[in-house]
Amino acid sequence: MHSEKSTQTFERVCVVGLGYIGLPTAAFIASKGVHVTGVDVNSKFVESINQGEVPFFEPGFDVLLKRVVEEGYLVAQTEQVEADAYIVCVPTPFKEDHKVDTKFINSAVEAMAPHLRPGALVVLESTSPPGTTEDMANYILELRPDLSLDEDDENAIFVAHCPERVLPGQIMEEMENNDRVIGGLTPRGTQLAVELYGTFCTAELLQTNATTAEMAKLTENSFRDVNIAFANELSLISDRLGIDVWELIELANHHPRVNILQPGPGVGGHCIAVDPWFIVSSVPEEAKIIKMARDVNDGKPAWVIEQVKAALEGKESPTVAALGIAFKNDIDDLRESPSLNIVKTLGSENPEVDIRVVEPNVSDLPESLSAIPNLKKQELETAVHDADVVLLLVNHKEFVQMDTSLLEGKSVIDTKGIWRS
Ligand SMILES: NC(=O)c1ccc[n+]([C@@H]2O[C@H](COP(=O)([O-])OP(=O)(O)OC[C@H]3O[C@@H](n4cnc5c(N)ncnc54)[C@H](O)[C@@H]3O)[C@@H](O)[C@H]2O)c1
Repeated sequence: MHSEKSTQTFERVCVVGLGYIGLPTAAFIASKGVHVTGVDVNSKFVESINQGEVPFFEPGFDVLLKRVVEEGYLVAQTEQVEADAYIVCVPTPFKEDHKVDTKFINSAVEAMAPHLRPGALVVLESTSPPGTTEDMANYILELRPDLSLDEDDENAIFVAHCPERVLPGQIMEEMENNDRVIGGLTPRGTQLAVELYGTFCTAELLQTNATTAEMAKLTENSFRDVNIAFANELSLISDRLGIDVWELIELANHHPRVNILQPGPGVGGHCIAVDPWFIVSSVPEEAKIIKMARDVNDGKPAWVIEQVKAALEGKESPTVAALGIAFKNDIDDLRESPSLNIVKTLGSENPEVDIRVVEPNVSDLPESLSAIPNLKKQELETAVHDADVVLLLVNHKEFVQMDTSLLEGKSVIDTKGIWRS
């Protein structure tokens, strides 16, 4: 199937930042016959994209990328160009104080400013604290005082926020079918952004203002974080009371209006463990539950480590099999992973303990672990066989399907509750 020929307002779109989010967004727009320039400061990414190769793992996406590149609708480069619309998909990490670091947005805008012309649309797609889209627009005006945000002005540009909510691994399905929240700084900004996302998104395009759109994304991830914190707190309470938290949750969830999530070793990844901080750092006085949820979830790894230490007591030259270091099941993503941090702390603080790490989704341990002498990567069966303590940290399918008779006679710490009989 060939890409459709564009008949719409946007003939040339520039997508800035070609990572997990920006590259699929660029390719989906290009597949509708819009000429897209994908821009990334990473020249290796640019090179591989122009050869039709996806620089990260995303099932099914390689076919689409190859097609739009071969047809000439998507071209990657390191420099920005003049375009009808820009979509900014650069990272938005936080700093030590949990406030957003806007250095990537700022550098993207600095490179964009000379190319901007009146009438252009600039969409910030990066997850951002309330007010960031407006700050970005003001920075553009600082760099280009000849432009304006006043819709009635002939030099007006239009600015909007449209956060992304796709799940990596399901991008081919979700990029087109997820509802989007779109908020402009002005009504025309919202309208133009709706038109732009309407080129490839077939779901509902929900219109609001920029600050509400920013908060919508942060609210979604805070909702998840708070609910996981509730489950994690229940796991501590249950341990103290000597009851099985998994049974407790299962029973409570039989109530028709109760749906408690599952506890675990903590919360990781670059979204749920990060985004709530953007609310907390914006309105610390009011965001009490959100802050406490972050603290509960961030405190869980230390509790798991105490459990392991208790299990090791009295054992001479003990061996621990640590199963899983990814931040969630069946992926290779180690960003902000509580499991990785648990293993790292256990290894570095207990040099007498021999730690065997099992992670079926990565070929080599990250440097932060491989530098620890008493820690090495091993296959599942051997690691479990040799272990005194088996520490289950991630519910990867290999662990769920494992023959549990291998666990007989071992101390088992199952942070995901997968081996309950
Ligand atoms: N990955 C996800 O699952 C996900 C989901 C929803 C929202 N988000 C948000 O989307 C944004 C992007 O996330 P991602 O996962 O795609 O990040 P990523 O790190 O995979 O990609 C970002 C890309 O931007 C490039 N970049 C940085 N500065 C640049 C600049 N000045 N000009 C051009 N390119 C530049 C980097 O080289 C990198 O390739 C973040 O705000 C993130 O929070 C991510």
